[in-house]
Amino acid sequence: MKCCDTMKVALWCVVVVLIGALSFSSEAQLDPSFYRNTCPKVHSIVREVLRNVSKTDPRILASLMRVHFHDCFVQGCDASILLNNTDTIVSEQQAFGNNNSIRGLDVVNQIKTAVENACPGVVSCADILALAAEISSVLAHGPDWKVPLGRRDSLTANLTLANENLPAPNFPLDRLKSAFSKQNLTVTDLVTLSGGHTIGRSQCRFFVDRLYNFNGTGSPDPTLNPTFLQVLQAICPNDGGAGTNLTNLDVSTPDTFDNKYYSNLQSGKGLLQSDQELFSTLGAETIPIVNNFINNQSLFFENFKASMIKMGNIGVLTGSRGEIRRQCNFVNSNSLGLAIPATKDSSEDGVVSSI
Ligand code: HEM
Repeated sequence: MKCCDTMKVALWCVVVVLIGALSFSSEAQLDPSFYRNTCPKVHSIVREVLRNVSKTDPRILASLMRVHFHDCFVQGCDASILLNNTDTIVSEQQAFGNNNSIRGLDVVNQIKTAVENACPGVVSCADILALAAEISSVLAHGPDWKVPLGRRDSLTANLTLANENLPAPNFPLDRLKSAFSKQNLTVTDLVTLSGGHTIGRSQCRFFVDRLYNFNGTGSPDPTLNPTFLQVLQAICPNDGGAGTNLTNLDVSTPDTFDNKYYSNLQSGKGLLQSDQELFSTLGAETIPIVNNFINNQSLFFENFKASMIKMGNIGVLTGSRGEIRRQCNFVNSNSLGLAIPATKDSSEDGVVSSI
C-alpha cells in the first residue's frame, strides 16, 4: 500500500511536470494553425486587401515586406514599429531607417479593419505584418510558406534601439554581419534576406554618395558598373537636394521576386553599398552564397522561406505577454480616448506618404 502511494505521488509529479512543460512550450511557440478556430479566414482576408491595393500600387508588396523586417529587428516582431507618438510612446517611425522611408502603414490599418470585421479582438498586428510579408512574396511571384502565428503586440516602442539595430545602406560587410548576428541571424541569413531587394525602390539619398563621392574619395564607388553608374547619375543629380527621386532596387526585374538581384551583384549593378558588399568584398564568405543563388533560384527560395520564418521568430511575445491591439497605431490603454493626436510630422500620413 505504502509503495503504491509512493508510486501514485511519483506519477502525479510526472503528470504535473509534463503539463507544465507542455503549457510552457505552447506559450513560447508560434504555430501556423494558431487562428484555425478563432479566425480561419485571416490569410485570405489579408491576401484580398493586398491583391486589391497592389493593382494600383505594385510597390506596396515591397513596402510591407520591409515593415516586417524593421519590426522584427527592434525588440522583436511585436508591431512596435506601428506605434505612433503619444504622451507615453516615442515612435520608432522617426528612426533614421524609417523616417520618410517606410511605407504602407495605412494599408496595414486597412488590413486590420478587414480582419477585425471578421474576427474582432483576435489577430495581432504583429501577425498581420508577418502574413503580409509572406503574401507579398507570393503576389510578386516569389515563394510561399506556412507563416507561424500567435505573436502578440507590444506595449512599448524603442526609438533608440531602432536607430541602433536597423542596418544602414552604407554599412560595410562586417557591420551588416554584426547587425544580423545581434538578432541571431547568420551570414547565410544576411545574404538570403538581402534578396528581399529583388523588389521595391530606393530613394537616391541612400546611395548617392556611391555615385559622386564614395567614402570621401571624391570619386564614384569603383565596384559600380560604369554603364549603371551613368544611368544612376541621370536619376540622382549631385545637386545637394533631398534625394527623394526613386529607382528600382533590382534593375533587371523590379517587381518580380526572383534571383536576378544576385546576378545584378555579379555585374556590379547592386544599388546599395550594402547589396554590392555581399559580392565585392574581397575573399568574403558571402560570395559563394551569392553564386549559389545565381545558379539555383529554388535554392534561394528555400533559403528565403527558412530565413523569413527565423526572422519572424525574433523576440516574439506569446501567451499572456503583450496584447492584441484594437488599433495598430496605439496600445489599447491609449486607444480608449487617451491618445494624444500625433503631430503632422509624426502622423501616419507623414511617414507613410507614397514617395
Ligand atoms: C541588409 C541590410 C539592409 C539594408 C541596409 C537595407 C536598406 C534599405 C534601404 C535604404 C531601402 C530604401 C528605402 C527608401 O528608399 O525609402 C530599402 C528598401 C527595401 N528593403 Fe531593405 N535593407 C536591408 C535588408 C532588407 C531585408 C532583410 C529585407 C526583407 C527581407 C529588405 C526589404 C526591403 C524592401 C522590400 C525594400 C523596398 C521597399 C519599398 O519599395 O517601399 N531589406 N532597404
